[in-house]
Amino acid sequence: MTSPPYYWLRDYGVGGQLGQEETVLQYVKGLADTMDEVYRLLADDGLLFLNLGDTYYSGKGKSHGTDPKSTKRRFGLRAVDKSGGLGIGIQPKSVIGVPWRVALEMSGRRKWVLRSSIVWHRPRSLPEAVKDRPRRSYEYVFMFAKQRNYYFNRPALRDVVAEEDVWTIPARPKSTNGIDTAPFPDELVERCLNLGCREGGSVLDPFAGSGTTLRVAVRSGRDATGIDLNPVFCQYMVEKLKAM
Ligand SMILES: C[S@@+](CC[C@H](N)C(=O)[O-])C[C@H]1O[C@@H](n2cnc3c(N)ncnc32)[C@H](O)[C@@H]1O
Repeated sequence: MTSPPYYWLRDYGVGGQLGQEETVLQYVKGLADTMDEVYRLLADDGLLFLNLGDTYYSGKGKSHGTDPKSTKRRFGLRAVDKSGGLGIGIQPKSVIGVPWRVALEMSGRRKWVLRSSIVWHRPRSLPEAVKDRPRRSYEYVFMFAKQRNYYFNRPALRDVVAEEDVWTIPARPKSTNGIDTAPFPDELVERCLNLGCREGGSVLDPFAGSGTTLRVAVRSGRDATGIDLNPVFCQYMVEKLKAM
């Protein structure tokens, strides 16, 4: 279960971070390469839930977003912007289609089985000051299997949702804990773990941030492993887990 940095949206303040590549294709490849490693580690009957949101191409070297940390963005005008199109030839103001580019790259490598593209509807959560298009209200949670047969706890789905692949879950209120990882809500993680991980099973989040996945997993009696490039976030996770 994981939510990697979105393309061109936020600066997590560490060298080597994903999400600030010059071209979309570099980002897509980097993320798919990371997911190849997840594939290697995943149990044969395991599932991957990958949360991804999209980004608009402004044409000026900046993404359009409502990131409260926009002052920390390091997105200057880049060579690629002068030539235009982020390396994929798209027009300014276009939605880039990042989540699907990643999902198709992953399934095109002939390992992952893309079993569901769940819409995570986030009511009233992406307030954008746009006048010439609808405001965004959803992201994706792609459900990938390692092979065609896998563990799937279907009753857990029936119990919690009417529309099985449209999940309305409010986004987590802005973090007040001093670290800003764009955390996903506990409920989103709970739903994925209940569906795809046996009781007492093991969970990995390779972009763990503040450790939401780890806390939810441990709270429900599962083992959890988290990875993050930012040492401050890692320290935070350790403290939170120790306090449980
Ligand atoms: C969207 S945040 C994850 C938030 C997390 N789901 C939570 O609830 O707090 C993405 C995380 O990926 C981390 N990250 C970025 N590049 C990374 C890399 N190359 N390897 C490991 N972690 C990375 C960032 O530091 C950030 O914490």
